[in-house]
Amino acid sequence: MAMEIDRRAFFASLGGVAAASLLSHEERAEALEHYMIEEIEQQDAPAQTQNDGGSIYRKPAKARGAGTVFRMDDLADMPDQPTLIDFFNSRFLTSHVIRSATRALDTGQPERTVFACLIHDVTQALVRSDHGWWGGQLFEPYVDERISWAVRYHQALRFFPDPSVGYEYPEMYNRIWGVDYEPDDYIKAAHKEALEHKWYMEARLVTMNDEYGFDRDIPVGPIDDFTDIIGRQFKQPKEGLGFDGSPTAHMWRTLINPNRSL
Ligand SMILES: [Fe+2]
Ligand SMILES: [Fe+2]
Repeated sequence: MAMEIDRRAFFASLGGVAAASLLSHEERAEALEHYMIEEIEQQDAPAQTQNDGGSIYRKPAKARGAGTVFRMDDLADMPDQPTLIDFFNSRFLTSHVIRSATRALDTGQPERTVFACLIHDVTQALVRSDHGWWGGQLFEPYVDERISWAVRYHQALRFFPDPSVGYEYPEMYNRIWGVDYEPDDYIKAAHKEALEHKWYMEARLVTMNDEYGFDRDIPVGPIDDFTDIIGRQFKQPKEGLGFDGSPTAHMWRTLINPNRSL
């Protein structure tokens, strides 16, 4: 199931080995995950290219933590009262999360987990740095609190094995970063916090399905396949996301129009 990573291309995407060495361990691990997600999106969506043939996902960005919508040239118009499905169709990168959610669904995991997997990385459209925290916050007003909690903590948990459920440290991290990789202190602290929390498994299950998000043998169906689950797990505001006055409405509005100058 492992996706092959072209090590040279990966470092080139960071600006070369020297530039990569300036990043912290956590930043490099984040960059790796994003690189993998972008790679798999490209493989799955060859039509999403610019007129010059270059991928819309590979434009160099000064701020690596900026979300993908800030680097897209041709953003589709969105309806006046956009739904979560509209964001899946027009703003989010979807292959990785749909694969993760499909795996959770096919293996009979709780619907809450399926939905958490479906949204666990979509905030990377808005911001990639610390995407677990941003993602948890983005969804918090609209979902069961265990779901936003799981999204928040998956970022930290993926670095820590849990033999009790068969989760191993991703081998790919060893190959890319070496065996001496050590997460930042705040990531370690978040892991410890999660371990002691009654909802630990909510986030752990997301990390377990996360790895299958890179498995190209899992077919990527349309988001419409998840319409019923979204309907039950997501409180869609009738005013439309971005216009409902929730504490995160501004984040949805920025996703709708990332080109607003102020
Ligand atoms: Fe993630
Ligand atoms: Fe992921």
